[in-house]
Amino acid sequence: MKTQTAQSTNGTAVITPEQPVTRHTPFPESLPGYGIVSHRPFVGRINEPVRPAKRIPGEKSGALRLDQGGYASPLSDLKGLTPLHLNENLFAAAKAATDRLSLADMLETVRQNLHSYPNSGVKHLQDAIAAELDVTAEKIVIAPGSAALLRDIVLYLLKKGETMLVPAPSWSFYNSLVEPIEAQIDTFPLLNDGYSFVYDRRLIAAKIEASRAKVVLICSPNNPTGNVLPLPDFLWLARTYPHVDFIFDEAYYGFHDNYTAVQEKELLACTNRRNVFIVRTFSKFYGLANLRLGFVICSETDARNLQKLAPVFGLPSLDQAIAIHRLADKKFHAEMQLEFAEVNTYVYTALRQIPGLIPYQTRANFILVQHDGRWAGLEDRLLTFGFKIKRETIKGDHRYFRITLADMATMQKLMAAIHQLAGR
Ligand SMILES: Cc1ncc(COP(=O)(O)O)c(C=O)c1O
Repeated sequence: MKTQTAQSTNGTAVITPEQPVTRHTPFPESLPGYGIVSHRPFVGRINEPVRPAKRIPGEKSGALRLDQGGYASPLSDLKGLTPLHLNENLFAAAKAATDRLSLADMLETVRQNLHSYPNSGVKHLQDAIAAELDVTAEKIVIAPGSAALLRDIVLYLLKKGETMLVPAPSWSFYNSLVEPIEAQIDTFPLLNDGYSFVYDRRLIAAKIEASRAKVVLICSPNNPTGNVLPLPDFLWLARTYPHVDFIFDEAYYGFHDNYTAVQEKELLACTNRRNVFIVRTFSKFYGLANLRLGFVICSETDARNLQKLAPVFGLPSLDQAIAIHRLADKKFHAEMQLEFAEVNTYVYTALRQIPGLIPYQTRANFILVQHDGRWAGLEDRLLTFGFKIKRETIKGDHRYFRITLADMATMQKLMAAIHQLAGR
């Protein structure tokens, strides 16, 4: 029997018989702004009926173009420069000297078995993530980096000629995801209220309807704007459009407490709907970009299918051991969040006070800054102070920078450099 999930008052998921699904169409005017929309029942799919629309890996689409889809890795080995242009976790770099993680001990545990394939593939890390998130391990697929995983998911969900919606502005890499399968990208805009960029679910809904999109990719916190899509809005979209697949790229999850425990549970439970794919990574908050470990939480059925695209024989045991250690290191997480919050406030406030610069509020480990033209070329001038930041173009406007947030001492030096340049 089909079932529906609903949230009980104590936050646990309860299962009730499924209600008939009626597609909700009236918008944008009729939507009551932000917040949970209660006029439509939450239709869940706890028992995960198989949906035939997706392409099972291995099935020939006749459209895979492996000569397409190139995306060059940005340079990070700029000697002598502090890299504030790649959104690496520089808090973790600053903490490395005092890190409790003992690589020697971990290497010793795998040294004897270096000749053998990773014991049980990726099962150890899968189990650790599942325990941390309180979901079944069967819902988790791990790949060498979330960027690679996004490729797999897009390959799994989309066919030639179909459309994937992405935010504008967002991470330029998304455009390359559809090229190998000759699918199409369309965009929905973010609004700019002068203090932050904003996801407007009515605009997303309107674009879904107008474009007949098959997949919607939402980046939250969004790169490069740093804003999040509020959870009620995401859940509303996933429930309102059950035939659209939603990829929720949460690469920058963790720097800020975006969810209460109950909300996190609700988000993870909604993956049972079979149209939600939550993508996270060890590269950002966990500070392990070098290990190349990303994972998706989705329905068990989709995870089983996606697993067919995952690395054969698993991923390195040492990498898994380090990731498991970092996942369990709650002290590290707490210190990171605390320091990040302080640095975020400091940098935002300091930049707000500089004439000609508009920083945007962020929930990620980077901050987007708009300027009025007098700061053109700041990225070049900061090189002489030892800082590499990233110039951004938004809606054809080149007057933006994205700056990765680092530890307080580094950020204070950066602000001193900007002040010095302001005085020239
Ligand atoms: C929005 C977003 N998603 C995913 C990634 C990729 O992360 P990973 O290191 O897991 O491949 C990045 C990398 O910068 C990113 O900005």
